[in-house]
Amino acid sequence: MKKYKVGLVGVRRGSSYLSVFANNPRTEIAAVCDLKHEPLVEIAKQYHLNDNRLFTDYYDFVNADIDIVVLGTPIPFHAEQTVAALENGKHVLSEVTASDTIEGCEAIFKAASRSKYKYMLAENCIYMHFCRQWKKWVDAGKLGPIYYAEADYVHEIRHLVIDPATDSPNWRAQRPPIHYCSHSLGPLLYLMDDYIVKATCSGKNKTIIRDVGPGAIDIQVALFETAKGATIKVLRSSVATRRPPLCTYGIYGKYGFLESGREDYENIGMRYFEGEDPKGV
Ligand SMILES: NC(=O)c1ccc[n+]([C@@H]2O[C@H](COP(=O)([O-])OP(=O)(O)OC[C@H]3O[C@@H](n4cnc5c(N)ncnc54)[C@H](O)[C@@H]3O)[C@@H](O)[C@H]2O)c1
Repeated sequence: MKKYKVGLVGVRRGSSYLSVFANNPRTEIAAVCDLKHEPLVEIAKQYHLNDNRLFTDYYDFVNADIDIVVLGTPIPFHAEQTVAALENGKHVLSEVTASDTIEGCEAIFKAASRSKYKYMLAENCIYMHFCRQWKKWVDAGKLGPIYYAEADYVHEIRHLVIDPATDSPNWRAQRPPIHYCSHSLGPLLYLMDDYIVKATCSGKNKTIIRDVGPGAIDIQVALFETAKGATIKVLRSSVATRRPPLCTYGIYGKYGFLESGREDYENIGMRYFEGEDPKGV
């Protein structure tokens, strides 16, 4: 069995993939890359990597002997790094979101379309336990045709927008909250087997934190229309004063609805299918 050689770039959040690939019998960690050398040295010790497997330049890394590039870098780098990896004959597993611009998304789409290598967006909320169960109900026709869905993702990460140690804005200061919509749209579109054709959004006030850019916007609400004609509403904030974080989903079909709870990630929600009693999910 071929063992795929995995290279990780961006070793903060991205490091969470290391043990997964190190423990999978079909993959091994073959290289790591980051602008900072020190964290690479720590990883090298843990995963027994020689110095020549550590990179601080992405273009040296992407030419190294690896099969899969795992992108854990800030979103503004994703498009350029994805295209370079695909063009250098590597598969890509990219952290969310794919890109922060329409042009970046187009470049990724074109590069992935013409490449024989695979591109995958690592949208993890699709793998939440309830989402797998809901999919079975949706596919069994329990909801019938779906006409509306919604998701709220309110996760206060002010310290990642303005670095408290230096009081300086980080890259998330330039990210409008609604741009980070994949944790909301990912599960809904997976359940609905659908895609977005129209989008509009409201929300521009910055009253909670210092105005360091669109990342300081208090809250945004987007409305989407899907190819099948359904409506989706998404509420997003990175700074709103709410504890615990809110990550919730609701979906309405002709014959019933599914709704997750609002207390925490594990909270029990509700389901109702016509002809049955309402129940917790
Ligand atoms: N799926 C999730 O639940 C989840 C959670 C957190 C973050 N993320 C995603 O993970 C990605 C990284 O987020 P983060 O919080 O770790 O960001 P971060 O800014 O804290 O860390 C990014 C790392 O990448 C390195 N880096 C920056 N530019 C680089 C470059 N050009 N080449 C090589 N290395 C570079 C930095 O030195 C740093 O170590 C983002 O896409 C983010 O949206 C996803």
